[in-house]
Amino acid sequence: MIRRTDFPILNKKIKGQPLVYFDNASTAQKSRPVIEAVSNFYQNDNANVHRGLNPLADEATKKYESVRNLVADFIGAKKEEIIFTSGATAGVNLVARSWGEANLRAGDIVVLSIAEHHANIVPWLQLQKKIGIKLEYIPLEADGSWDLLAAKKLLNKRRVRLLAVSQVSNVLGIINPVAQLTKLAKQKGIVTLIDAAQSVAHLKIDVKKIACDFLVFSGHKLGGPTGIGILYGRQELLLATPPFMGGGDMISFVKSDSFGVSDLPYKFEAGTPNIAGVVGLGAALKYLESVGYNSIHKQEQGLTIYFLQKIKKLKAVKIFGTAKAKLPIFALTINGIHPHDAADILGQAGIILRAGHHCAQPLHDYLGVPATLRASLSFYNTKKEIDYFVSKLAELIKAFK
Ligand code: ALA
Repeated sequence: MIRRTDFPILNKKIKGQPLVYFDNASTAQKSRPVIEAVSNFYQNDNANVHRGLNPLADEATKKYESVRNLVADFIGAKKEEIIFTSGATAGVNLVARSWGEANLRAGDIVVLSIAEHHANIVPWLQLQKKIGIKLEYIPLEADGSWDLLAAKKLLNKRRVRLLAVSQVSNVLGIINPVAQLTKLAKQKGIVTLIDAAQSVAHLKIDVKKIACDFLVFSGHKLGGPTGIGILYGRQELLLATPPFMGGGDMISFVKSDSFGVSDLPYKFEAGTPNIAGVVGLGAALKYLESVGYNSIHKQEQGLTIYFLQKIKKLKAVKIFGTAKAKLPIFALTINGIHPHDAADILGQAGIILRAGHHCAQPLHDYLGVPATLRASLSFYNTKKEIDYFVSKLAELIKAFK
């Protein structure tokens, strides 16, 4: 069941106006169970994990590892395949630096989509510079969906070694048919990485159904704390991938001139991890499951249709990404008003939006606009909030005429 009252911050007022939080693609708000889990951990259970032979460390380790099991169940993986990272960005970087550097050679092709955010472009550009790989981008149809014909053609190129794409664009909100491409990639021996940063809060993820080799997401976009994320990797691939960072916990022994690497998943978790973040992530996953993906989907689809119907009435507004398979993430431009001005002025009315290129500059170049105004909704948003946003935007358009 959806209970807006579970999110304390939604009671906040900004300049006397109720907070209308439409920046969920940036980071989602935190429910009370998540806030309490983190606070409770620090108040009652704080200790380092995997290190001390004492009851407090044992309890902290138990809590930490129980979340690994929870995440594994949540996405249909084995616990050895779940690596705690600091977020989706760290996950992509880990794959690029460890798997990529060990397996890619000059001239090998990595296929991305032009709608990727920087976290799934820059690590590959860095490898392009370092070892001479090539990047190819899947273009988009006019409605923001992938051009599947072009995508299939790209995957037919002989030197393609990796397909790295997001399940949902953080700007357009389009739900991409990732399983179609991973299936094709698999037939051709191409490794696949799915960026689920923007999808995991909205869609039930099953790595077996997507049939990908790697998948990343961040905790904070699904209502967990910042600074915690997940890298899923197929066990066979993780076993064959060298560790990323060196330090405590990822070793089996260290001598002054050598070291041994620990088993999965610890091999990829050097240093003291974000233990409270993991605990908070566990609470966020439990919370999402208690609301239920069916309820979330139903509510968000209702909000998407309502938003599009309402915004259509404002002739000065152009929406990018109109394909049917869409989450309530709307990038728009307004005739005669810069997105930054709109975000600033609407912010004064309590409406929190993001303006700019949303860490997806190549996509904005492709769309031919320097910036968009983005409204990104979650299941706890309401039609009343959409009405308020549209009325304030209409006022703004009138004032700028
Ligand atoms: N990728 C995040 C966003 O879309 C930061 O806002």
